[in-house]
Amino acid sequence: MLLVTGVTGKTGGEVARQLAAAGVPFRALIRNRAKADALQVRPAETVIGDVADDAVLAQALQGAERALLVMPNGQDQLQLEQRFTAHAARAGVQHLIKLSSLESVPGSTTPFTQVHLASEQSIRDSGMSWTMIRPTFFTQTFLTSGARIREQQIISMPAGKGTIAPTDLRDVGAVILRVLTEPGHENQSYDLTGPELLTLDQIAARFSLVLGREIRYVDQPQVELRARLAAINLAPWRIDGVCREFEAIAAGVIDHTTGTIARLLGRPPLSLEQFIRDHLAVFR
Ligand SMILES: NC(=O)c1ccc[n+]([C@@H]2O[C@H](COP(=O)([O-])OP(=O)(O)OC[C@H]3O[C@@H](n4cnc5c(N)ncnc54)[C@H](OP(=O)(O)O)[C@@H]3O)[C@@H](O)[C@H]2O)c1
Repeated sequence: MLLVTGVTGKTGGEVARQLAAAGVPFRALIRNRAKADALQVRPAETVIGDVADDAVLAQALQGAERALLVMPNGQDQLQLEQRFTAHAARAGVQHLIKLSSLESVPGSTTPFTQVHLASEQSIRDSGMSWTMIRPTFFTQTFLTSGARIREQQIISMPAGKGTIAPTDLRDVGAVILRVLTEPGHENQSYDLTGPELLTLDQIAARFSLVLGREIRYVDQPQVELRARLAAINLAPWRIDGVCREFEAIAAGVIDHTTGTIARLLGRPPLSLEQFIRDHLAVFR
């Protein structure tokens, strides 16, 4: 049996959809019963509970051969991931797949990347086979700019002249599907990027081209981003972390693309233009 966490979120949700479409049964660990009931995709088995709960972890991991660990950035993320890893090793899981990030390299100093690096190390030390899924900036992040693009014709983020390589979650899900269902991915780190390195000005120009009207990039003052994130009740630690990530982007930390998605999927990664065309209802 495969165990998948985070299926009510972005990455785990995409993986659940692709597993279901491929007819692969899986067990989901979901902490919120109402969200479990509302899921469009039906896992073969569902365990309701929190990763912080030992009894829940024991139940979720029992008999699982492979497990996908997806946790949101948070102050307790490392502790929860290390707890999950220790339980998985004890339960006899053979292969643990972890969602990490491309920017998590030795020497990186942002809080989220430090958590990923430490968690990756715990998994490598656990004795289980592992695969690190290390995408960069999800293209789907632009969905949160939908209202501004529609109503004000702007994209605003504090990214300065820095570049990103927007990476479509559908590609990330397709890579994870392969890793969960095929042999040969053991003890591999997969750095995943979209096809192009683009500044936010260039990204706004791509939106303009596909939408047929001018979209401008506004280099958002950090204080404004902080206010917006506070308004949606993000914890202060997480707000600081997001701001540090954007500072790193503005300083040029994302400076390359990789061919990993093309190599693993046998086709190029999805482009930003394709993403915009597939979400016209959000941006028009
Ligand atoms: N955003 C990006 O551009 C990007 C790029 C590369 C890597 N990443 C990495 O992606 C990860 C986040 O993935 P995501 O965006 O898919 O996350 P997400 O959409 O925030 O979803 C997180 C999932 O984890 C579940 N969850 C949270 N705490 C839990 C707990 N204590 N016990 C059980 N389940 C729990 C959530 O359940 P509920 O629905 O109940 O909250 C939800 O299903 C982060 O580690 C981040 O560093 C992000």
